[in-house]
Amino acid sequence: MTNKTWFVTGTSTGFGHSLAAYLAQQENVNLVATARHTDQLGYLDQYDHGQILKQTLDVTKQDEIKTAVSAAGDKFGGIDVLVNNAGLGYFGTFEESNREDVSYMFDVNVWGLVDTTRAVLPLMRKQGSGVIVNFSSIGGLYSFPTLSFYHGTKYAVEGISESLAKEVKDLGIKVLLIEPSGFRTDWAGRSSKKVMPKIEDYQQFGDMIESNAKGAHHEAGDPDKAAQIIFDQVTNHEKDLPLRLPLGKFSSETAIAKYKHDLSEFERLHDLSSSADQQ
Ligand SMILES: NC(=O)c1ccc[n+]([C@@H]2O[C@H](COP(=O)([O-])OP(=O)(O)OC[C@H]3O[C@@H](n4cnc5c(N)ncnc54)[C@H](OP(=O)(O)O)[C@@H]3O)[C@@H](O)[C@H]2O)c1
Repeated sequence: MTNKTWFVTGTSTGFGHSLAAYLAQQENVNLVATARHTDQLGYLDQYDHGQILKQTLDVTKQDEIKTAVSAAGDKFGGIDVLVNNAGLGYFGTFEESNREDVSYMFDVNVWGLVDTTRAVLPLMRKQGSGVIVNFSSIGGLYSFPTLSFYHGTKYAVEGISESLAKEVKDLGIKVLLIEPSGFRTDWAGRSSKKVMPKIEDYQQFGDMIESNAKGAHHEAGDPDKAAQIIFDQVTNHEKDLPLRLPLGKFSSETAIAKYKHDLSEFERLHDLSSSADQQ
């Protein structure tokens, strides 16, 4: 059996760390573990027998994307699975969010994912195979107050991925969206800026922002279990890989409730919607 090469972004902490550690222990897997600071990847050394490549990669830097992807190609001859995991959060009301900060979050969550994918796609097209795993969120399907711009990034990831999946299907390339609910990572803590409401009308949302921050590392989701599920889906179920994979009970229940609600609304409105066409 030939080795599959996985290329993962943001492997310093959280989902990326769990997935990289899990992949490093699998047979027939080459791992390209990327991070902004590779000195944070010492946890991989104990598993390294020549199948791991650590690469510096800030996904907002085009030159680093290019270098990391070509280093992966040079060492392992291609990339079979790309995991666009790197991402940030941002808590604040729509009116009070800082444009520059949320714009940077779009650079990481959306453009970082897009640019990395565009760099890897030529390799996958040449191989005639590949899986692109894009980290979205339940927040890419359903929206909460104080997270409008985070949702904006994840809905963008959903739309882009759904369209991409249709473009590359006949080229042997699949796209898998991961939609977690709350997991025990650094996301709600250090990886999310928080802007407490100053406008009196939005005071009620202060508690929500605070309780999310306090809940960091106490969420229901276990990133090690997520890593096993993602590996199993891609490795053993590639033929019938879903486009969307909610992870965590809350994510699954929220997705089902949202789609049921939307479906009944769309059905209720069907005649009205259709009446807008020219007869
Ligand atoms: N945890 C949750 O509850 C949850 C739920 C739904 C979706 N997600 C998504 O899961 C993904 C992973 O986040 P996480 O939960 O594992 O949080 P995390 O522990 O904070 O990990 C975030 C990772 O992204 C990296 N990163 C940030 N900016 C980067 C950049 N410009 N270039 C490269 N890497 C960068 C971080 O690297 P540094 O160490 O250098 O900062 C870190 O490795 C994100 O896309 C997030 O939106 C998380």
